[in-house]
Amino acid sequence: MPSLLIVSLQLMSATASDSEGLNNLIAPEVHQDEFFEVIRDLAASAPIDTVLEIGSSSGEGSTLAWVEGLRLNSRKPKLYCMEVSRVRCEALQKHWGSEEFVECFLGSSVNLDQFPSTAEVEHFHRNVSGPLQKYPQEQVLGWLQADLDYIRKEVVPTGCIREIKRARGIENFGAVLIDSSEFTGNAELDEVYGAEFILLDDTQTFKCHAAHQRLLHDPGYELIAENPKLRHGYSIFRRRHRTMLDPLPVDSPVHYFTIVLNGEPSSGITLRFCSSSPSGGTGTSSKALQH
Ligand SMILES: C[S@@+](CC[C@H](N)C(=O)[O-])C[C@H]1O[C@@H](n2cnc3c(N)ncnc32)[C@H](O)[C@@H]1O
Repeated sequence: MPSLLIVSLQLMSATASDSEGLNNLIAPEVHQDEFFEVIRDLAASAPIDTVLEIGSSSGEGSTLAWVEGLRLNSRKPKLYCMEVSRVRCEALQKHWGSEEFVECFLGSSVNLDQFPSTAEVEHFHRNVSGPLQKYPQEQVLGWLQADLDYIRKEVVPTGCIREIKRARGIENFGAVLIDSSEFTGNAELDEVYGAEFILLDDTQTFKCHAAHQRLLHDPGYELIAENPKLRHGYSIFRRRHRTMLDPLPVDSPVHYFTIVLNGEPSSGITLRFCSSSPSGGTGTSSKALQH
């Protein structure tokens, strides 16, 4: 890859959207650090069949971690990569398109009407202290506008998470990494809720701040790893499983009860299982999405 083309926007893109540079390649971000290692380990050992990476860039950062780990996973999971920038998606496809278990998709993870309003971004900028406050509010709102403008101008597909699920017959992904636009983490979480593992990058900025809080307060998920100090924070959540047992005979003193695996049982009984059941399948192999 011609190195002159790599525009290093790391300071800005690590804290916010690099939307004004969506026509350029950028340096890998999840790269030779703790999060990279954790992704690779999870990919190698988790009982999953599908992975969705939202915001793959040109494939040399987090994508590399997924690929290296998944190659070792005996379940041979599929990796779906998603990238809105045409130039980055082309580089991504060149990089990993020949790997049998990797599919790269061009488009926006969510629809335009799922982006936050300027009022929501302003409210966050005013009230939540963190790295985003290093930037003037007008600049941050400019990034939001540039993201929306790029999608409209380039006419890239939108709503791609939904479309991949539909086209590949996936109800819930095995694992999902949310690391795309500064403004879409919360909407992306809506689309992937139910995944076995949800990995968030930039938990200290607008990108994944709300998503992190939602998962933290959801008894259906447990936090299994986090480092709020690595770049702008990452976290990993695992889904808890509930098993409804068959009703007991009517003359039993207890009519039925629910056991929550790895969680708080409503009956006071806890079963702890080491492995969880896999989710999702690869479904049809027809390519319904634009690459
Ligand atoms: C922070 S970078 C990703 C870094 C990458 N994971 C790595 O480790 O190098 C975010 C990427 O998401 C892409 N992106 C921005 N908005 C998006 C959207 N709505 N849907 C999909 N990708 C998007 C950007 O073009 C950018 O390449």
